[in-house]
Amino acid sequence: MKGIILAGGTGSRLWPLTKALSKQLMPIYDKPMIYYPLSTLMLAGIREILIITTEDDLDLFKKLLLDGSQLGCKFNYAVQNEPKGLAEAFIIGREFVADSKVALILGDNIFYGSGLETLLKNNRDPKGGIIYGYHVNNPKRYGVVEFDESGKAISIVEKPDHPKSNFAVPGIYFYDNEVIKIAQGIRPSERGELEITDVNKAYLNKGKLQVTVLDKGIAWLDTGTFSSLMQASQFVQVIEERQGLKIGCIEEVAYKQGFINEIQLKKLAAPLLKSGYGEYLMNLI
Ligand code: G1P
Repeated sequence: MKGIILAGGTGSRLWPLTKALSKQLMPIYDKPMIYYPLSTLMLAGIREILIITTEDDLDLFKKLLLDGSQLGCKFNYAVQNEPKGLAEAFIIGREFVADSKVALILGDNIFYGSGLETLLKNNRDPKGGIIYGYHVNNPKRYGVVEFDESGKAISIVEKPDHPKSNFAVPGIYFYDNEVIKIAQGIRPSERGELEITDVNKAYLNKGKLQVTVLDKGIAWLDTGTFSSLMQASQFVQVIEERQGLKIGCIEEVAYKQGFINEIQLKKLAAPLLKSGYGEYLMNLI
């Protein structure tokens, strides 16, 4: 399975903070935001990843993440110049995906919790689409999924005025290869975007969409407002300082997944010793 991280957009909801710098490079406590979704894909065992960003930010992402070989991965880069929707990722990335299955994660979505690795690894061979539902206070800001009494998903609506449930669809999606064809067939919504919700609806209509409810043991954090961005940093700081274990540490995930060995980890740690981050990596050995 291949992976795509969508890290485009104008970030205008966080201006002036993100006026000159990509939202997905903003700090979440001790790391750039993109480390978190990247570590999530790596936790799922995905090593071949396409990072989609804007032309302006492309070189910065390359400077940060290189070609991925230092993490035992392979990173490719592509550009989305206008925010034309999440589903456009599959059109931009169609040659990268080729005939593989693919996971898409949004560059500003943070997942953390017990059992996450197993949960993600179970999705590596989707027969259709696999998405999640997550109970939130304010579903209007998201894609919202409605379930019948038996727990079967029966509708998904993008940013509804009158949500039929409190279950939002988080920004991580697993699909079989048909997603490329489906994405190419959908039309822009009223906000001018190719909506991921329309892709999910296409799978739902075919009876090929699996929607699993994430329980409260999993944290799905939002970074869409000044306040939620701050909260995400605080959340990471609280857990990391209490446990002495890092969240979203791509070097650690690469090592624990067996993508890199001790020597490679030491090489990654060396330039990071001054901040304490490198010492953390050294202590993993
Ligand atoms: C997008 C999707 C929405 C999903 C959300 C998750 O919203 O369209 O369905 O629930 O990501 O973060 P957007 O970021 O485009 O407002």
